[in-house]
Amino acid sequence: MADNEHWEGRVVLVTGAASGIGLGLARGAARAGAVVHLADRDADGVRDAAYELTADGARATAHVCDVTNGDAVRRLVDHVAAASGRLDTAFLNAGVNGVPSMMQPGGSLLDLPFEAWRRVLDVNLDGLFHGLQACARVMVAQGGGSILVTASTAGLRAEPRVSYPYVASKSAVVGLVRQAALELAGYGVRVNAVAPGPVTTNIAGPGPRDPANAAGWQASIPMGRWGSVDDVVPTALLLASPESLWTTGSVHVVDGGASVLTQLTADGLPGNP
Ligand SMILES: NC(=O)c1ccc[n+]([C@@H]2O[C@H](COP(=O)([O-])OP(=O)(O)OC[C@H]3O[C@@H](n4cnc5c(N)ncnc54)[C@H](O)[C@@H]3O)[C@@H](O)[C@H]2O)c1
Repeated sequence: MADNEHWEGRVVLVTGAASGIGLGLARGAARAGAVVHLADRDADGVRDAAYELTADGARATAHVCDVTNGDAVRRLVDHVAAASGRLDTAFLNAGVNGVPSMMQPGGSLLDLPFEAWRRVLDVNLDGLFHGLQACARVMVAQGGGSILVTASTAGLRAEPRVSYPYVASKSAVVGLVRQAALELAGYGVRVNAVAPGPVTTNIAGPGPRDPANAAGWQASIPMGRWGSVDDVVPTALLLASPESLWTTGSVHVVDGGASVLTQLTADGLPGNP
């Protein structure tokens, strides 16, 4: 549970807030007393999410916004800052995959359509750029703020069970977070990322329930299970909150130990049975 002392009255924006980790972040911040603006391209989903939070007594507003539309993102961020007087914390979390991995038909580098590549990069990388830039402009002008990006362990190493554009986009996300942290530190704007391993949300599709896929994932997690949204949210909230005032440019892994498992095997890779 997030600490009310650090969240009460803070103005928070969450992208990709209609489901999964984004909804968990919005819930966590709202329950700790923050004024939460939820944004998503899923209009019904984000309205339902905001309704759930307000019914729970929280101050929450839904915004329909597709992060691939730079003008729409700028309008959203400027509107939030104007409506609530400032923007303290932005969780830039919207993301997609939906493209086969190299282990699946159509996902090999030899076959991958450029359109599938672009679709993921548009959201995960270009969408993040729009959000980072718009939030940075507001936060620099107001004299500080905190931005927390949802990266992925797939951005920290090669991962055969994840698609090319997802791995490439999340690798670029890590670089973007570090670069922005460097520039914005002197303005009092912190930029950090949480890098989850496999978490059971919509983006993971049938992963944990698909016997062909689940066993490989399971074997790669020392703690022996997929993560849940509740495994990720407390770490993300801590990094974003004023408790972490001297932390910027960090990419914090939350993955049940998967990324410390160095005994990798090439068994089962394409061309290497
Ligand atoms: N679930 C995992 O295993 C996992 C692991 C590491 C990182 N992540 C990252 O966590 C973040 C959240 O994903 P999730 O796992 O909660 O999945 P999810 O599918 O439940 O949530 C993603 C949300 O983003 C929204 N979204 C997608 N494209 C958008 C766009 N163009 N504009 C606005 N909103 C958009 C979706 O509508 C959805 O509500 C993503 O950045 C994802 O890459 C997830």
